[in-house]
Amino acid sequence: MNPFEKGQEILKEIEAQVLNSAEEAEAFRIKFIGSKGLLKDLFASIKDIPLERKKDFGQLVNQIKQSAEEKVALAKTSGVKKKVKISNEDLTAPGVPYKVGTRHPINLVKNEMIEIFKRLGFVVEDGPEIEDDWHNFTALNLPENHPARDMQDTFYIDYKDNILLRTHTSSAQIRVMQRQKPPIRIITPGRVYRNETISARAHCTFHQVEGLYIDKDVSFADLKQTLYYFAKEMFGSDKIRMRPSYFPFTEPSAEIDVSCFICDAKGCAVCKHSGWVEIGGCGMVDPAVLTNVGIDPEEYSGFAFGMGIERVTMLKYGINDIRLFFENDERFLEQFS
Ligand code: DAH
Repeated sequence: MNPFEKGQEILKEIEAQVLNSAEEAEAFRIKFIGSKGLLKDLFASIKDIPLERKKDFGQLVNQIKQSAEEKVALAKTSGVKKKVKISNEDLTAPGVPYKVGTRHPINLVKNEMIEIFKRLGFVVEDGPEIEDDWHNFTALNLPENHPARDMQDTFYIDYKDNILLRTHTSSAQIRVMQRQKPPIRIITPGRVYRNETISARAHCTFHQVEGLYIDKDVSFADLKQTLYYFAKEMFGSDKIRMRPSYFPFTEPSAEIDVSCFICDAKGCAVCKHSGWVEIGGCGMVDPAVLTNVGIDPEEYSGFAFGMGIERVTMLKYGINDIRLFFENDERFLEQFS
């Protein structure tokens, strides 16, 4: 058999081979293209080929080499099965969904209130929840033993040193007026505390947004328009009324009532069958308060208001129990997504 015939035979053999395992593939490789394989011998016989046929022979040898290499490569990638560890889990079972949190309704409404007052030029300020007596009461025209202190049942942290949990965000007004000169146009949203019996309408902790506007020639009409604007933006209706009231830190003072949207003012438990829900208090800042913080009441005047965020939220969403806000029941919270 001349080298050409021998080459053809090897090629046929290679093409006919079926490789079923990694071992078979390796044996095949060694036999044909290994360093002592058949191809090596065939190469060696090139010296016996006449010059004019050397080129053809070279092509044949290359073809054999390529063919063998392809076969080995193929066997290594797909022909050889890897051992797969079968899991005991049921891979067809549906996944466990995880819940995406939602914003708390109090935060939703707080943010909305901030946005509304921002459009009127109010900026957000902050105050501490642990206060002293002076900022929470005295500076707001509630001197020691003033009977109006009874309006707000206070949690004292240190009775001797007059350290307490603020009963309203009005204390933040005082802090802002101490550090800023008029014009002042701020709101201070935050948490307040009162030693009250917890019920559907009252809680020992809740949230307020305090508003304060001090400048030259600020009038009650400015206060009224501010509250009208707020009601229109928040509830889509400016059906509010201002009822004359008393607060030591404002003169005159009023309570802000909003038409009850829960019952369409027909009368329900939330509005105590009056058709109106009180959302806060307001008034013209008492000159004594301005004097306490070093602002000349002859030069400046201003208005203030304080609203309960829970009250506004209850009215907006038709919620009839304030305790729901503090229970963290997912069935309640997920309705605000
Ligand atoms: N601080 C009062 C309260 O918590 C609410 C209030 C009334 C705030 C009148 C004010 C105001 O700024 O002018 O009951």
